[in-house]
Amino acid sequence: MADATLNPEQTTLLTLAAKISEQAETLTKSLKDNNVPMCDFTVDSPATYASPSPEIYMQRQGLIESLMDMIYLTQGPNESIFNYAHSAMPDAACINILNYFNFWDAVPLHGTATFQEIASHVSLPVDVVKRLVRHATTLRIFEETAPGKSTSEIRHSFRSAPLARSKGLRALLLTTLEMSGGPLMALHFALERYSKGKDHLPKNIDETAFSLLYSGGKFGTFKNTWEMLEEDGEGERKGWRQREFTVFMDYLKEIFGLEGVVKNAYDWESVGKAKVVDIGGSAGHDAITLAKSFPDLEIVVQDLPQVTPVFNANLPSELSSRVSFMAHNMFDPQPVAADIYLLKLILHDWPDEEAIKLLRALIPSLKPGARVIFIEYVGAEEDSEDAPLPRIVRGMGSATDLRVMALFNNRERPVSAWKEIFTMADERFEVRSVKSDKVAFYAVVEAVWRG
Ligand SMILES: C[S@@+](CC[C@H](N)C(=O)[O-])C[C@H]1O[C@@H](n2cnc3c(N)ncnc32)[C@H](O)[C@@H]1O
Repeated sequence: MADATLNPEQTTLLTLAAKISEQAETLTKSLKDNNVPMCDFTVDSPATYASPSPEIYMQRQGLIESLMDMIYLTQGPNESIFNYAHSAMPDAACINILNYFNFWDAVPLHGTATFQEIASHVSLPVDVVKRLVRHATTLRIFEETAPGKSTSEIRHSFRSAPLARSKGLRALLLTTLEMSGGPLMALHFALERYSKGKDHLPKNIDETAFSLLYSGGKFGTFKNTWEMLEEDGEGERKGWRQREFTVFMDYLKEIFGLEGVVKNAYDWESVGKAKVVDIGGSAGHDAITLAKSFPDLEIVVQDLPQVTPVFNANLPSELSSRVSFMAHNMFDPQPVAADIYLLKLILHDWPDEEAIKLLRALIPSLKPGARVIFIEYVGAEEDSEDAPLPRIVRGMGSATDLRVMALFNNRERPVSAWKEIFTMADERFEVRSVKSDKVAFYAVVEAVWRG
């Protein structure tokens, strides 16, 4: 429920509790009516409320918003800030470390492990392991068999078990916490150095909080995130981040139901036999989806070189005549003349200057009538006539927006800015259609080349 329904003067612990009870009842009924299995606190709980219904999603967000209000009101304003400041970073650091060293696999899913066994598995001192795991248990991540006792062993909990089961969730943590956490905490330094006294962020991707942290030598010499994904690691380990990133992108498709979005982004059947280039297509998860559903499409996936082995491993042999991989830097002139160029979740990682360069790099291969399709995140439109989304839903979007500020000097563009990008790149791009879904935070924009 949106903030508008919360009357500050009349909201008390008891009115909130009543509202929460009502919302919990409505949600439980909706889940039952739609046969959605309920999550519980056991290790074998469903990992998610597997419901595609936007209504149930919004009911859950409304309940979460009330619960957050309940926490704030119970703490009072001072304590709500103090407790957050006290715990936010240790909590994030703890989960990040557990994930980076893969504590999840150190404990059997339906058994227990001693601190010493976990320490051997993750190659860290047992004292460090004990302190980290004990903090994690306060977040319902792992459980102690005898809390606080030296004889205690560790078992999975309902929040840690999904991490043992899902490579995708682990890859998500690696990107959202491990790669972004440092830059987000260094964002104030970057703003001070590059933006203070100016009226905008730097327009390029090399003067970011990311580069401040990762290009100076101590933590690497990577100019930007993509270079880190490609270059981090020695020998066989090189490319490990890119390999994890392909798993993350595939997982995002799963959790946001983007498979349907890709299939419905365009009337793929209407183009008959057509060549599609999926620019920055990762290890081909979207290309494979499209090729399976539309047998007339021939798809070239372009991405950075370290993606090649993952693509080769992923590609079903029956699609090898129609789906191929090309290592290609998307800022170099496009070598493939295609009917459709697909850019999914690409340009939100690049500030305008670079996004424009990228679109211009397509021009040498564009034939009249060629399509460019963006499937992209959208940010909130200022002064929109629409009713505001619930605070908690807006927060998901604005968190992504701050992440792309720290990593890329970019912003989550509203729909209007997505259209402008085409015009700024070249007047011969004509934006034909824009479909957007505010709750799911994405838009599909189609432009035609009028060259
Ligand atoms: C956010 S991911 C999107 C992946 C995929 N399109 C999807 O929606 O799942 C961005 C992709 O762009 C690729 N990329 C980054 N810089 C690139 C460059 N200069 N040339 C080609 N690909 C690049 C990354 O390797 C990554 O796979």
